[in-house]
Amino acid sequence: MGKNVIFTLFTILYLFIYVVASFNSSADEYALLVYKSKITSDPNKILVKNWSQGTSFCNWIGITCGTKHQRVRGLNLANMGGTIAKEIGGLSFLRSLIISENNFYGFIPDEMGKLS
Ligand SMILES: *[C@@H]1O[C@H](CO)[C@@H](O)[C@H](O)[C@H]1NC(C)=O
Ligand SMILES: *[C@@H]1O[C@H](CO)[C@@H](O)[C@H](O)[C@H]1NC(C)=O
Repeated sequence: MGKNVIFTLFTILYLFIYVVASFNSSADEYALLVYKSKITSDPNKILVKNWSQGTSFCNWIGITCGTKHQRVRGLNLANMGGTIAKEIGGLSFLRSLIISENNFYGFIPDEMGKLS
């Protein structure tokens, strides 16, 4: 019984640490994944094929990170459609946003106004 309890506690602790760590790994990754989830048209399948969790988002196509910090500085995502996730406002280091040739619909989220 003792072994099972310890094993169970260890598993729960491990999962807890894992969840906390992945949840917190980056506010930017979260924002990007929400952005991805709202894209319904991506003819070149960039997001599906390349934006894969478990790889650093700084290596994802269309993302430029700052040199000092692993934070998103630029987004270059042309030719996509869907809606624009308000979470994009969470990319607090974003300086450049290129979303040309898109077919977005709906509203431009207010949160985009917070971006510098
Ligand atoms: C979460 O990440 C931030 C930086 O992104 C860090 O400052 C903070 O300590 C982290 N929190 C936890 C609970 O690890
Ligand atoms: C995404 O694309 C970049 C640049 O082409 C490449 O280095 C990276 O390995 C790709 N990642 C995945 C998961 O395909």
